[in-house]
Amino acid sequence: MRIIAAVDSKDVGRKTANRIAAQVIVKPDSVLGLATGSSPLTTYAQLIEGCESGDVDYSRVSTINLDEYVGLSGEHDQSYRYFMNHNLFDHINVDKSRTNVPNGLAADSAAECARYDALIAAAGGTDLQLLGIGNNGHIGFNEPDETFTAATHVVELTEGTRQANARFFTSIDAVPTHAITMGMRGIMTSKCIVLIAMGVGKSQALYDSILGPVTPLIPASILQLHPNCTIIADEAALSLIREETGWTGETIEL
Ligand code: F6R
Repeated sequence: MRIIAAVDSKDVGRKTANRIAAQVIVKPDSVLGLATGSSPLTTYAQLIEGCESGDVDYSRVSTINLDEYVGLSGEHDQSYRYFMNHNLFDHINVDKSRTNVPNGLAADSAAECARYDALIAAAGGTDLQLLGIGNNGHIGFNEPDETFTAATHVVELTEGTRQANARFFTSIDAVPTHAITMGMRGIMTSKCIVLIAMGVGKSQALYDSILGPVTPLIPASILQLHPNCTIIADEAALSLIREETGWTGETIEL
């Protein structure tokens, strides 16, 4: 894994957006795997700037998002579809019909999961997958478990994850209990993975994911097995890794 240190969340956004922009410039019909949450906000702001300035053209890009809450429509202001429209898609020249987020209102969730996996397979996997990481090491909504789950699936969110996300809702009770998430096959078949992390709250999860054993109890640890995975993180998130390895530079291969 290649690790790149950033000074703060704005710097994480700048470095990550540069990586994504390079992907789209080199391959204009790239399939981007995208994430929601706080972590990608600075990245998306930079991508919008790059599009507005005419440096990057998204007209031939397709996107496949990681996850969506079960029970929320795309119009709900806490749905991940709404988040993506609001924070990225409405501001770049992507064709919305080529943007994909799981349907949280699907009557048959098993069929929706199968449809999503078929979509990923038809694309031959994403060209670049952007990931955040949960405090417990989750990626997408692949929560700590006894096994890794390969397929897109419905997951029951842990109490900790619901509490972490309650900041976006009126109360914890309003946070959905389930989500549809891309599974590990969808993530690991991406040609290139970029995981971003900011803040001291992510430092233990990052440490365990990079330096600990590969285990479904720390879902992001599976990324150690990916041939092209880059982690872009701020100093606070990297603090435990710096302490353990004695690394002081800007990039390192671990
Ligand atoms: C969101 C997602 C989650 C988040 C993670 C971190 O699509 O897949 O895994 O990336 O929960 O969330 P933030 O960035 O809000 O700390």
